[in-house]
Amino acid sequence: MFIKFLPFFPIFIILTQCSLIYAQQAAAPAPSGPTNITAILEKAGQFTLLIRLLKATQLADQINTQLNNSNQGMTLFAPPDNAFSSLQSGTLNSLSDQQKVQLLQYHVIPNFLSMSQFQTVSNPVRTQAGNNSPGQFPLNVTTSGNNQVNISTGVNTATVANAIYTDNQLAVYQVDNVLQPLALFGTPAPAPAPTASTPKKKSPVVDSPVSGDDETTPDVSHAVGFAMNGLVSFLGIAFLAGMLS
Ligand SMILES: *[C@@H]1O[C@H](CO)[C@@H](O)[C@H](O)[C@H]1NC(C)=O
Ligand SMILES: *[C@@H]1O[C@H](CO)[C@@H](O)[C@H](O)[C@H]1NC(C)=O
Ligand SMILES: *[C@@H]1O[C@H](CO)[C@@H](O)[C@H](O)[C@H]1NC(C)=O
Ligand SMILES: *[C@@H]1O[C@H](CO)[C@@H](O)[C@H](O)[C@H]1NC(C)=O
Repeated sequence: MFIKFLPFFPIFIILTQCSLIYAQQAAAPAPSGPTNITAILEKAGQFTLLIRLLKATQLADQINTQLNNSNQGMTLFAPPDNAFSSLQSGTLNSLSDQQKVQLLQYHVIPNFLSMSQFQTVSNPVRTQAGNNSPGQFPLNVTTSGNNQVNISTGVNTATVANAIYTDNQLAVYQVDNVLQPLALFGTPAPAPAPTASTPKKKSPVVDSPVSGDDETTPDVSHAVGFAMNGLVSFLGIAFLAGMLS
């Protein structure tokens, strides 16, 4: 009896391994543990370029660490892909790595702000980019009664569209424009920057075209998951067939 099952023993091991791998893959995307800014933005969709920049500058890790280690909370202004692509062509490429870090830090306020708290912040607001004195990284918030929040940088303005995530520690707000700080985009002359208001035809602005890495990965693992599932079922049937024969 036992001897008869011996040939199937390796199959049983493979079966167990597959189940384990499958279980791990299925469990990975569960939103547990410390806050993960990348996962939040991925889930919201339309933030491929922001995610790429956050990863490239390692700010994603810094934000996660900071959220885990402080009780101040954090507010992130998140421009979607179309906000990045409506920047003037070459804008991002013209920035050094350090300036890219500053640009992203300018979108982070190192404390939690609910929508109603915007009404009472004092200008200029201090961002993670630091120095908020004139010509550097000042950021002004203006609000109106019906919960409308605008942000002006001195170069351009953005409107807060909606909260895409909030948990009383972290607030992520979608904004309709990339916030352009004076220190990086200010013109020497104090005239209003014409580039900020005239609609430009959309031009690809990123270093590399959107490859879709970020979107395809979950699909692939999903597919692998299904494949594994199929394999497990097949081996399970084979195993059962062996037992019954
Ligand atoms: C955060 O989420 C992203 C996307 O889901 C994932 O690739 C990354 O490994 C996660 N980071 C941590 C520290 O869990
Ligand atoms: C989060 O903070 C806790 C306590 O400070 C620490 O034990 C843990 O390792 C941190 N986790 C991460 C992912 O940084
Ligand atoms: C915000 O900006 C929009 C568009 O630029 C404008 O129509 C609106 O009046 C502004 N609201 C406030 C409160 O500044
Ligand atoms: C921001 O607000 C401060 C203080 O009210 C003001 O002095 C400054 O001119 C404002 N800057 C912009 C760009 O609106």
